[in-house]
Amino acid sequence: MGQGRVHLYYKNVMSNVIGVKHGIGHSQLDELADQAGKEIVDLNNLRKAGQMPYRDLPFNKTYISQVKQVAETIKGKYENFVVLGIGGSALGNIALQTALNPYMYNIDEKQRGDGCPRLFVFDNVDPMQVGSFLDWAGDKLDKTMFNVISKSGRTAETASQFLVVREMLLEKLGADGYAKNVIATTDANGGTMRTITNDAGFVDLEVPDGVGGRWSVLSPVGLLSAAVCGIDIDGLLEGARSMDERCSNTDFYKNPAAINAAINWNYYMAGKPISVMMPYSYHLKDMSDWYCQLWAESLGKSEDLSGNKRFIGPTPVKALGTTDQHSQVQLYREGPNDKLFTFLQVKEFGRDITIGGTPDCAPELGYLAGASMAKLMNSEKAATEYALLKDKRPCLTVMFDRIDAHAIGEFICLFEVTTSLAGLLFAINAYDQPAVELGKEATFALMGREGFEDLAEKIAPVTEIDDDYLV
Ligand code: PA5
Repeated sequence: MGQGRVHLYYKNVMSNVIGVKHGIGHSQLDELADQAGKEIVDLNNLRKAGQMPYRDLPFNKTYISQVKQVAETIKGKYENFVVLGIGGSALGNIALQTALNPYMYNIDEKQRGDGCPRLFVFDNVDPMQVGSFLDWAGDKLDKTMFNVISKSGRTAETASQFLVVREMLLEKLGADGYAKNVIATTDANGGTMRTITNDAGFVDLEVPDGVGGRWSVLSPVGLLSAAVCGIDIDGLLEGARSMDERCSNTDFYKNPAAINAAINWNYYMAGKPISVMMPYSYHLKDMSDWYCQLWAESLGKSEDLSGNKRFIGPTPVKALGTTDQHSQVQLYREGPNDKLFTFLQVKEFGRDITIGGTPDCAPELGYLAGASMAKLMNSEKAATEYALLKDKRPCLTVMFDRIDAHAIGEFICLFEVTTSLAGLLFAINAYDQPAVELGKEATFALMGREGFEDLAEKIAPVTEIDDDYLV
């Protein structure tokens, strides 16, 4: 076992555990090592050539000091911190908050750190949801800081939320209050949000150049809300740096990202296109959401790097242990053997609950009386894994010694580099998202944006409801 607090356990994909049909033999793994070994070198070279800016984020001292400075102006002064953003401008913030702050953080002042505000992340435009928040926050606006995060500023969801908030702030707090109660995290040089920021005089932070939304959690995009809510961002970045070193190791067998990418790639090519991430920890549940975006947007591509039509892409699925044992595991065991499972397991929860005694009328629950809830959680993980292995389903486990900022930084870096290496193995561009653009533009067209009239005409016949088919 190498250094670090997060490790990848891959024994349960091997053919000596699940058989030769679904498992990987040692010689096959050596072949994967040869192939992925080349990709590690290529990735290290790309990085040296400055072509992987997301890898430099944990080392960027300017960003961390800017973030800390801004965070200090908020803590103790604001009761609510609201992120307006979507996709890569929201999922990392949510994942960090769920992972590293207590479940009752927003509800219980005592469980929040000193001076830390409540956190809300709006990554949708559901008028019921947003309306409910505005009803509650309407008379607390002077105690509410909004962080609008948008690289472009043209994303309809974030822009619309921002415009709603802007109007409210102007109406209730005037121009000064509006300028004071918004922090913009956006492109340094251009784009709609940059123009608005310069015009309004918002305090601002930078979305780094060349770093797409889904790769930006360790930049000011994800760090500000984390710092404001008392998360140890130094530990987070230190963890990422230490995993970065492990993921640069050209020895395949010592590089967890290379093994992870190679195994995922192997199973996709071998007819298992679905990749299920199943944390056995409530706190890690939104890390699966973050992973799903990273995996799906990076690896789902119609063309390879040579322009050949390939329609590549493993499908990420999130599940939560133990919750989804009672909904999805039936399919996972008896449905098609077309999935690779990645469990997230925590060795030390940092706290335990002793289960209470049983009433005399229910002696069959006696085995639980006095037992540890942490033991139950990890026994359920082992039980599910055992059941899947009985059915020859390949299983990986990412082991966390415990959940802390350092470990979360390691995990983020592990999956980012895994995704980059998988991109090289699939020979696709993991850093663009051309297919997301059409949906964004179609929204502009349907909302009547100037210049999109032709597109609106094309959309109407396809999406208008045809009553003949409505039953
Ligand atoms: O990963 C991505 O690039 C996307 O999910 C973007 O983060 C998302 O579409 C929001 O874009 P923007 O930051 O320009 O508002």
